[in-house]
Amino acid sequence: MGTEPGEIHRGLKGVYFDTSEASFIDGSVGKLLYRGYNIHDLAERSTFEEVTYLLLYGKLPNSRELETLDSTLRANRGLPQEVVDIIRLIKNCHPMDVLRTGLSALAAFDPEVEDKSIDATRRKGIRLTSQAVSIVTSHHRIRQDLDPVTPDLFLNHAANFLYMLTGQKPMDQEINLMDVDFIIHAEHGSNASAFAARVTASTMSDLHSAVVTGVGTLKGPLHGGAAESVMKMAQDIGDPSNAENYARTTIENGERIMGFGHRVYRAEDPRARHLRERARVLGEQKGEPHWFQILTSLQEVMKPYQNKGIYVNVDFFAGAVYHLLGIPEDLFIPIFALGRIPGWTLQCMEQYENNVLIRPLTQYTGEMDLEYIPMGDRKQ
Ligand code: SDX
Repeated sequence: MGTEPGEIHRGLKGVYFDTSEASFIDGSVGKLLYRGYNIHDLAERSTFEEVTYLLLYGKLPNSRELETLDSTLRANRGLPQEVVDIIRLIKNCHPMDVLRTGLSALAAFDPEVEDKSIDATRRKGIRLTSQAVSIVTSHHRIRQDLDPVTPDLFLNHAANFLYMLTGQKPMDQEINLMDVDFIIHAEHGSNASAFAARVTASTMSDLHSAVVTGVGTLKGPLHGGAAESVMKMAQDIGDPSNAENYARTTIENGERIMGFGHRVYRAEDPRARHLRERARVLGEQKGEPHWFQILTSLQEVMKPYQNKGIYVNVDFFAGAVYHLLGIPEDLFIPIFALGRIPGWTLQCMEQYENNVLIRPLTQYTGEMDLEYIPMGDRKQ
């Protein structure tokens, strides 16, 4: 049956489909660069605004350039009333579905929606980076029968996110946590959601459609959904002493330990460390040290799997940080999406710049050249 096979790479494992200047990942040693700059420097010395500029313009900004981008982000925190009304209509849906729907609705109000030029794509990506925060936070307020919080133009991106989410001005430590979290989630090569967004852009569809594709793809637990699952796992484990039994039982059942493993990293995900110590300190301060203790016990128990290249990934400590910040679990994936919009935008800019329609093959294994049988002759 079928036709002569070509070489098949299921899941496109190890397949290079294009070149990119967005990020460099060496999975063997756990190295990650954004536009040539090490994630360790960016996470500890930069800001999400500066990283957004770096990703979208390809260089670190000078003070005037950063100020301009920062002002543009602050100026685009508002949502059309119609989009807020749509959020009200679907307030009981999962926040990722609301984010996906809200971003899609924004296309109807963006005058540049059909402009696929690099400059317009960059401008739209910057607007979406800000507007997406307002979609997620307004929804969270509305589903609690509270009014959306008006954005505070005096707060930076991370601080305004927390402020719009809670109605309370966040502490510096909480702002730093969210800023680092957005930085380490901003871009990561051809991950599933970025690849999906590029496929959409490769048909010369618009950035809003590509970002909506990215959100829909990121929602899956094998990709962006792990942070939510990690916290559920930590709650199931309940005590550090249960970690070993939990891990053994889970793996024996052929299931996955959430927050571990990665398609590319065969060493520790370099992003994980930037939330690990912060999760420990925050847990101590909040009087909830046990989450960190449970996670580190699990990490210890999973050490033998390191010889199979299974280490913690970016989501492992993120869930504990969000939980300790009082953020509900169903907002964990949307937070990942909020950080990733600059990366999706850059990936689409690269696709538009030197586009080739992305259209791989599948090896047909079905029947060949069957004779059509009229209804009257078919077995009833
Ligand atoms: C991110 O791609 C990206 O860049 C994604 C991301 C980004 O920034 O966009 O980095 C975001 O990494 C989040 C990933 C969050 N997902 C999880 O934490 C879910 C749990 N992880 C896995 O399901 C898994 O590790 C994947 C999906 C992330 C990667 O799986 P692969 O590359 O398809 O590898 P595989 O499923 O073929 O597993 C290889 C082996 C298998 O064992 P064998 O069948 O060969 O004996 O490793 C085992 C797997 O069983 N394995 C795990 C495991 N992950 C892999 N075993 C237990 N627990 C795990 N988590």
